[in-house]
Amino acid sequence: MHDEVKKYYGQILVTSSDLQTDACCTDASMPPWLKAAMADIHDEVSAKYYGCGLVAPQQLEGARILDLGSGSGRDCYLLARLTGEDGYVVGVDMTDEQLDVAKRHIQWHADRYCYSTPNVEFRKGYIERLDELELEDESFDIIVSNCVINLSPDKDAVLREAWRVLKPGGELYFSDVYSERRVPEELVKDPLLYGECLSGALYWNDFLTLAKNNGFADPRLVEDRPLTIDNPKIEEMLGTHRFYSATYRLFKIPELEGSCEDYGQAVIYKGTVENHPDLFELDKGHRFETGKVEPVCGNSWRMLRDSRFADHFEFFGSGDTHYGIFNGCGTAMPFDEDGSGEHASEGSCC
Ligand SMILES: C[S@@+](CC[C@H](N)C(=O)[O-])C[C@H]1O[C@@H](n2cnc3c(N)ncnc32)[C@H](O)[C@@H]1O
Repeated sequence: MHDEVKKYYGQILVTSSDLQTDACCTDASMPPWLKAAMADIHDEVSAKYYGCGLVAPQQLEGARILDLGSGSGRDCYLLARLTGEDGYVVGVDMTDEQLDVAKRHIQWHADRYCYSTPNVEFRKGYIERLDELELEDESFDIIVSNCVINLSPDKDAVLREAWRVLKPGGELYFSDVYSERRVPEELVKDPLLYGECLSGALYWNDFLTLAKNNGFADPRLVEDRPLTIDNPKIEEMLGTHRFYSATYRLFKIPELEGSCEDYGQAVIYKGTVENHPDLFELDKGHRFETGKVEPVCGNSWRMLRDSRFADHFEFFGSGDTHYGIFNGCGTAMPFDEDGSGEHASEGSCC
């Protein structure tokens, strides 16, 4: 599959308009500060963008970030701008043609951002084998990835390596495609369906299990949308199979619990994260308005207290006493069927 995917992204696709479906497309609306940063990206880099979501988590200043499957480098350059000159971004991709475009514009972006030296580099390699790229244990604050992990033949290895290279308290924040049920082998083997980021997609509940098995005990869904496909031939091949694009954040916080437990804790957001003065969104089910006391489960409390967000919250409760289940984590599919963005009553944790 690696060779098929290299051919698809290196030779078959020339720009994003060559894509056959809406799987590798992003339709998320962008706040003005992000639009402004996006306007500073080289046209050739943007033309070869094949991502399916926004991978720009909060509080990036000075962060060291790894992008798995960085393609032509759009997200790397965006993040390099958001981290500022003190941050650093490493992009990893296996396809020469994609890496060539990304590398060609390193100095252009450093000049554009008025940095004295570039803060981005690209390495050729496989996201399942980061050890071959001399990426050290616990060396990144954040890992992002945009429409790539579905293309990996060994997703378990990708999550295992992500856990290894993340610093404690760091997070894997990534957009990808998921299926609503397991995809049959004959569709997985189809190079077009696989290359279009569809048939390699994990069934969402298998993804949750895989994440938990690799230490990410409480994956948090940030946003999602159903894919419409918009291609009669491909729709016929897919039959009743439905797909979703979704962004998850997975914190590397050892000993998070498998469910949301109530320890009588609460937080107040101080409104101090840059570009987020009124509201901080941890995930689809946790939106913290500035100054408001919000009761949280033990896991959410630790995601805020043991990560780069700690200075931006006030924390209440010792966590010494357990008061039972926080709010029942559902088992229904977590994605919105209609793309309305309404929070699911079940499935979105807490
Ligand atoms: C759908 S494109 C997304 C590229 C980029 N993230 C973006 O948003 O434009 C998938 C990219 O992942 C790379 N890729 C896929 N599987 C990979 C793997 N196992 N190791 C390294 N790169 C991989 C491909 O070469 C391609 O550039």
